[in-house]
Amino acid sequence: MKDYIQVDEWKIIEEGFKPEYNTISESIFSLGNGRMGQRANFEEAYSGETLSGNYVAGVYYPDKTRVGWWKNGYPEYFAKVINAANWIGINIALGDEQLDLAKCEVSAFRRELNMKEGYLKRTFRAKTARGAEVEVEAIRFCSIVDDETGAIKYTITPLNYSGPLIVTPFINGDVVNKDSNYDEKFWDEAEKESWHDGGYIQLRTKKTGFEVATGQKFTITQNNAPVDATVERVEKDKYVASSVTLQAVVGQPIAITKFAANISSQNYPVEALSEVLKTTLKAISLKGFEKMLSEQAAAWEQKWLHNDIIIEGDASAQQGIRFNIFQLNQTYTGEDDRLNIGPKGFTGEKYGGSTYWDTEAYCVPFYLATADQKVTRNLLLYRYKQLGKAIENAQLLGFKNGAALYPMVTMDGAECHNEWEITFEEIHRNGAIAHAIFDYVRYTGDEKYLADYGLEVLIAIARFWSQRVNWSDDKQQYVMLGVTGPNEYENNVNNNWYTNTIACWCMQYAMDVAEKVKATDPAKYDALVNKVNFKEKETTRFRDIIEKMYFPFDEKLAVFLQQDGYLDKDQTLVKDIPASERPLNQKWSWDRILRSCYIKQADVLQGIYFFEDRYDIDTIRRNYDFYEPRTVHESSLSPCVHAVIAAKLGDEARAYEFYLRTSRLDLDDYNNDTEDGCHITSMAGTWMAVVQGFGGMRVRHGKLSFNPFLPAKWKSFSFHIGFRGTLLNIRMGKEGVQIKNLSGNELTVTIYGKDQVVKANNELLVEA
Ligand code: BGC
Repeated sequence: MKDYIQVDEWKIIEEGFKPEYNTISESIFSLGNGRMGQRANFEEAYSGETLSGNYVAGVYYPDKTRVGWWKNGYPEYFAKVINAANWIGINIALGDEQLDLAKCEVSAFRRELNMKEGYLKRTFRAKTARGAEVEVEAIRFCSIVDDETGAIKYTITPLNYSGPLIVTPFINGDVVNKDSNYDEKFWDEAEKESWHDGGYIQLRTKKTGFEVATGQKFTITQNNAPVDATVERVEKDKYVASSVTLQAVVGQPIAITKFAANISSQNYPVEALSEVLKTTLKAISLKGFEKMLSEQAAAWEQKWLHNDIIIEGDASAQQGIRFNIFQLNQTYTGEDDRLNIGPKGFTGEKYGGSTYWDTEAYCVPFYLATADQKVTRNLLLYRYKQLGKAIENAQLLGFKNGAALYPMVTMDGAECHNEWEITFEEIHRNGAIAHAIFDYVRYTGDEKYLADYGLEVLIAIARFWSQRVNWSDDKQQYVMLGVTGPNEYENNVNNNWYTNTIACWCMQYAMDVAEKVKATDPAKYDALVNKVNFKEKETTRFRDIIEKMYFPFDEKLAVFLQQDGYLDKDQTLVKDIPASERPLNQKWSWDRILRSCYIKQADVLQGIYFFEDRYDIDTIRRNYDFYEPRTVHESSLSPCVHAVIAAKLGDEARAYEFYLRTSRLDLDDYNNDTEDGCHITSMAGTWMAVVQGFGGMRVRHGKLSFNPFLPAKWKSFSFHIGFRGTLLNIRMGKEGVQIKNLSGNELTVTIYGKDQVVKANNELLVEA
């Protein structure tokens, strides 16, 4: 764990130059706007430890999978959102000395991520080897208003140096991915052009043929006046730059304002890219940096209005939750149903920027409550559009009759993980995709979605489960063999309770939805039945499986068993493992982990979290008391589920402990891996821990309910929730729960089990 980020309610601050933490800070201070994003690399040259990262959403490369022994069914490639052209670059030379913090004496350094207004500011004072001292202030952002663009204002003031100062703003597409499987470069140059005040390169991805035009346009002032300087244009392979030679004068600031854009063939025909780029650059440079920045602040203000969580009395927790919400909003805006949420968003290469079950299981609740419902709908449509590929995936594995197995890792619908043993058998992901449909409809009431899209996906998923189980003569029950549950510290197990549970739930839900659509929209139902050749007799098998499914259970302990044979394992608890042996995934052999009882992340408890209404409180408590002491939480997705269950059980102290673990996971680098990127999808889990955990928020029978408690350290906490056209502010303080209805329609909500009517534009207080 690190402790170098300063606490501030609205800012993330790093004070002092810490090259040893630079790659961590590059992740934490990342910027994004849903369409593009980048790590917090420096504008000027830096020869120290750095992971350069610029990403354009949806532009990926299928990197050939690397495995030792190839087997049928392995995915051929691992798709990656790739490192794209670096558009932030501004090299600075003082005479013939390059400004490079790794080679300077740095007497002051501050990096500040302003979450309220959505920009990154860096200031430093540095002295070169020859003694030239400068002060720099660099402000930059990825615009959420003009979402293909970004802007930088880089001001350098010589403190003791007069002489030639060469400023070289550039675009560099000669970039690599650190995680490239075969050290390949993923881009070819298609074209480029440079002007005296800018230029662009257009790159084409190998294999996939995406093209992205990345360009810059800049202005330079000295002592606040335009400069008349010589410009030398530089063009190299995948690189354009303009070198501007100025005469530096002590105390006179030189300001470079750089406008940049990424225009992708995902959104325009290839032949139009350069023209669109030029028009975009012209438009934003005319708008100007200050106006862009003020529009950015106004747009972020709107976002915060709908999804801020305010914690009184604990600045560190406040900073943590805002950081999580900020990063989620930087990653996904829900404008485009071809995009999704990679576990690291735009903050690093790990997980390839691809889509995992994380989206449906963890992110959907956040976006449902904090954004327009079309945002979650687009996440569902993403999977709907990939149904054909999911059916192909299942066919490749031998399934028939339109059964779909959604990929565990995907970019375009095809399975593309590169870790067969663990990832492949995590077929439970199909369940999360069905559950997200349920969650969406439960929250929004948009039942039309079921007839239009949902049922088709549900039938295909139900078909998969009905073929994946087999009848055990021995047990006289259906069983599901050879799976990996959410707990990846067990592979190829039989009868994972969670998987068996969600499989049956999926089949039942598919049948319920089919009944509903048949009754409410018979024409659509008939059309769909024809399209997918759905025979009602298929439901006979679904029912038979649901009725005769085997669920491992231990009578003595009265707990659901994670899988067959779980109790044969040595049951030494996590608290008894020496601290020096944790985290297990860094200290133990894989063999030892697989044989142990230790649980990477919520597994049985994930099922209890999803389907809590099926279980009485004693059952939930017994399972929580049994599994929590065996869980090592070595996935960032784990503590949030435990927090919500602990809160439900009234274990406020543990709920708070789990919350802290997720909320500052990246800021404090708990898992020693933030340098790879931030844990974006688990950030939605942090939100869950507050809203569903401390706030006790649920949706039942079309109604919102809350059961809040106040963590002991806090004076109050409050959050906004959008629900079916009504915006509410819920504040939990010592005096009780205050609900403000910020909309023009009345809403009935359940507080501590009792219905309360909150009139339009009104508020009420319920004592705790
Ligand atoms: C977790 C998975 C998750 C993946 C991506 C893994 O460590 O165990 O459940 O889908 O990370 O976040």
